[in-house]
Amino acid sequence: MSQLQGEIISADAPLSNLGNYEEAYNNFKWEDVEKEFSWYQTGLINMAYEAIDRHVDLGKGGKIALRYSDASRDEAYTFQQMKDLSNQFTNVLRKHGISKGDRVFVFMPRSPELYVSMFGAIKAGAVVGPLFEAFMETAVKDRLEDSGAVAIVTTPALLGRVKIDELPLLKKIFLVGKDLEPIEGIIDYHAVMEQSSPEAEIEWVNREDGLILHYTSGSTGKPKGVYHVHNAMIQHYYTGKVVLDLKEDDVYWCTADPGWVTGTSYGMFAPWLLGVTNVIRGGRFSPSDWYNTIQSNKITVWYSAPTAFRMLMGAGQDVVEEYDLSSLRHVLSVGEPLNPEVVRWGLKVYGQRIHDTWWMTETGGQLICNYPSMPLKPGSMGKPVPGIQAAIIDDNGKVLPPHRMGNLAIRTPWPSMMRLIWNNAPKYEEYFRIPGWYISGDTAYMDEDGYFWFQGRIDDVINSSGERIGPFEVESKLLEHPAVAEAGVIGKPDPMRGEIIKAFISLMDGYAPSEELKAEIAKFVKEGLSAHAAPREIEFKDKLPKTRSGKIMRRVLKAWELNLPVGDLSTIED
Ligand code: WT7
Repeated sequence: MSQLQGEIISADAPLSNLGNYEEAYNNFKWEDVEKEFSWYQTGLINMAYEAIDRHVDLGKGGKIALRYSDASRDEAYTFQQMKDLSNQFTNVLRKHGISKGDRVFVFMPRSPELYVSMFGAIKAGAVVGPLFEAFMETAVKDRLEDSGAVAIVTTPALLGRVKIDELPLLKKIFLVGKDLEPIEGIIDYHAVMEQSSPEAEIEWVNREDGLILHYTSGSTGKPKGVYHVHNAMIQHYYTGKVVLDLKEDDVYWCTADPGWVTGTSYGMFAPWLLGVTNVIRGGRFSPSDWYNTIQSNKITVWYSAPTAFRMLMGAGQDVVEEYDLSSLRHVLSVGEPLNPEVVRWGLKVYGQRIHDTWWMTETGGQLICNYPSMPLKPGSMGKPVPGIQAAIIDDNGKVLPPHRMGNLAIRTPWPSMMRLIWNNAPKYEEYFRIPGWYISGDTAYMDEDGYFWFQGRIDDVINSSGERIGPFEVESKLLEHPAVAEAGVIGKPDPMRGEIIKAFISLMDGYAPSEELKAEIAKFVKEGLSAHAAPREIEFKDKLPKTRSGKIMRRVLKAWELNLPVGDLSTIED
């Protein structure tokens, strides 16, 4: 289990913000972090103020907050401009009746307007809901319906996926596009922004008031709305400081889209709470494009994901050598296990340790991490962030000794812990079924030095390219296809993507298995749900293994796939 533990890469930056890990951990108090915020005196708070306006008030209005580029745009915005633009959008929303607590969604590719809209909505006291641009009709509808969204900001290309007629609560649609033809019932974003004042009164809220809803997948049921509150900023700020190790002059790049939690907690909140220049690159992954982004922006701190690093590794060292990456000083990863091989490659080719970080949508912020000042063990997620108590516990809540595998659990609470699963109290409570602990759903063990080692998921949740996919959502879509009688979906190990989605399908009478049918079914999911949820592999079976109550036994499918023993079959149908 711990064959990798012999390998240690020594700390490279003892003067990092964290300093000595043990000392920082032992002397830590959240109250000390809270004092960094202006609301410490008043009790009232607003994430958008702390992330944007505060830097203007501190005399840094002229500093570049956002550098945005994609194939057709290359723009920079100062903190002052971000403040003015988000104020303008706050005024627009207010004029259209949006107020505190309303759910306002953003559904568009990365662009300056996306960030402005989110901060504008937050300043109005709204709860923002970011949707990944690849979501198709069903995925969009499920999320808007569940959250009771009243407004959405989207683009002409994506508007067709918003089923306005089927969403009675969705009253306001803002369209971001150039030279729009007027459409009835649709508001032209740029036109209303132009008429809006850059002065706005911020909605000051309580620490426990809603900030953001991130929909994420579990193994059963529709996606869950994970609800975070403004208080999360304490964790974003502190981890931005000691994990991202951000300093005044850093140029930071997080490659995640705000449709996923990494793209908000660490693509917006943490870097801007610390007042650093944040680089956002739109468009798709391409090794040369990515290296060019680092070179041309002189990126110093870079946060990405194992799949991306593996693809960069696959692209080879020659590409790396065409670019000057010498600005880099700190590299981090999140989303799936970071292979030791990738860490070694990073050291060799970038001259950088890649620092793995572990957390989840539900945790709102980083919890177990590697730090510039701490020796790194390739393959380990690192040690708990100061202020966080992590442990391996058994199903009864007993804390297990080092090297025993069990549930990775966190002592409750911490500042960025989710506060609700929207509309689903029982789901929320499942995470806290053992008093005093948050049960992550991951299994891991801790070694004798207190480093944590990821082992797997307890449930059937699939992690493909760092994106979390609920098998139930995919199965439900598959069942809507006329040829599909039964469907069971599993994650199949894949060297590049971590896992890929594999669907086992039994067909309706009158349908014959064929490669064309496989392609058609995959396309059906891609177009109905989203590209990342579409099965890359389909296998037809006469019958699927089910429990007597009719539940597809995914663990049997997985055992078939991996040629493993199927285990206890006492509940199987026949
Ligand atoms: C699940 C959470 C939080 C940002 C991105 C993912 C897996 C996350 C690691 C890591 C191994 C990891 C876990 C976790 N995961 N980070 N460093 N090593 N696995 O957020 O979509 O909520 O997924 O991703 O299984 O439970 P998410």
